[in-house]
Amino acid sequence: MLEHRIDQSFEVRYSYPVCFTRGAFAPENRLLVDLMRAQPPGARARVLFAVDSGLAGVQPGCIEAIEKYALAHADAIELVRPPWIVRGGETSKRDPREVDEFYGYARDLRLCRHSYIVVIGGGAVLDAIGYAAATAHRGLRLIRMPSTVLGQNDAGVGVKNAINWQGRKNFLGTFTPPFAVINDFELLASVPAADRRAGIAEAVKVALIRDRAFFGRLHRQRLALAALAPHAMEPMIVRCAELHLAQIRNSGDPFERGSARPLDFGHWSAHKLEELSAHRLRHGEAVAIGIALDVQYSCRLGMIGNVAADTIMETLCDIGFTLDHAALDRLDVERALGDFREHLGGQLCITLLKGIGEGVEVNHIDIGTMRACIGELRASQRHARDEPIAPEVVS
Ligand SMILES: NC(=O)c1ccc[n+]([C@@H]2O[C@H](COP(=O)([O-])OP(=O)(O)OC[C@H]3O[C@@H](n4cnc5c(N)ncnc54)[C@H](O)[C@@H]3O)[C@@H](O)[C@H]2O)c1
Ligand SMILES: [Zn+2]
Repeated sequence: MLEHRIDQSFEVRYSYPVCFTRGAFAPENRLLVDLMRAQPPGARARVLFAVDSGLAGVQPGCIEAIEKYALAHADAIELVRPPWIVRGGETSKRDPREVDEFYGYARDLRLCRHSYIVVIGGGAVLDAIGYAAATAHRGLRLIRMPSTVLGQNDAGVGVKNAINWQGRKNFLGTFTPPFAVINDFELLASVPAADRRAGIAEAVKVALIRDRAFFGRLHRQRLALAALAPHAMEPMIVRCAELHLAQIRNSGDPFERGSARPLDFGHWSAHKLEELSAHRLRHGEAVAIGIALDVQYSCRLGMIGNVAADTIMETLCDIGFTLDHAALDRLDVERALGDFREHLGGQLCITLLKGIGEGVEVNHIDIGTMRACIGELRASQRHARDEPIAPEVVS
């Protein structure tokens, strides 16, 4: 029998800026230094820089540039040690070494909750160091500087971090908003072309579920995007980041307590296709196929028309995505949906389209129809390679 009950309730307001710049480490660029506030006022902000080894390898000058930047602003910031190079890519999430090393620095360099961690890297390094920074002392101030397209338009701007545990991707992680995000377009110059293209898939995804005009722009600029032209890529990154942020802000569920996950449009199959291809398919490449599949399904159910579906396929193909992959033959739809439901927690919730720019959540997928869509996608792509068709419906 209940003897006493106290209903506790409070709200915590989060806010953080997501800034876009060029040449963030040019000494005259004050963006980064002005974001950091020292405690107490007048003291210098203590900063640890963590740099993705993939970036440091191809832009070796960046380490020196960071050191010079810190020197130029020595009145405001104190480098607690030389920039720390973190192994890039999934290794940093798979192997606990990085996180452990971080905790060692936090202890030995006496980092506290007012210290800053500036992490510069791809989504994987942002996730791993973000997780370490969120858990040491229950949270240090994290400034993310994403250095890949996916990092700048998706992974780096949100509220999640994670590492893998015993082979399970993103098994350990927290919802921790960053202190700030700085997207420096110049960091992207050295990202391999295939990786830059893969990042565009997330923009197509969020445009299709939320913003018809943005999709129209991606469609019109599809050849410029295929050429990775900065005049198309940079506004794409800004708008995509804006839409991801709006989703987190306005969904009423920033920490994903419910089951709806609209930003995972096209992802239930993408996660599996990445695995089935032994990760030869990049995340964005798999997402492009996943989008195509869910578009076919939405079309078969009569939720969107053929012309709209063809326009989406054409956009994806012209940007340079291959929508046909042998891994599709080995995609176990029932199992993939089951695993996705487990990942969401609660009931199955899949985003489909009821129009371009209009996502809709459904709780049931007909397995037979989805299998038919896989066959249709594979056949249509073989056909499309022979004779591309292109009705334009989006203005
Ligand atoms: N937290 C989130 O909300 C969220 C969202 C989406 C994805 N993610 C995670 O992001 C990761 C994928 O991120 P990604 O696509 O950025 O790949 P990635 O982090 O694996 O980076 C790809 C490769 O590029 C290298 N690299 C990074 N910047 C570079 C640069 N400027 N020039 C040259 N090489 C560079 C890296 O060292 C790595 O080898 C996954 O682990 C995924 O789970 C997280
Ligand atoms: Zn994704």
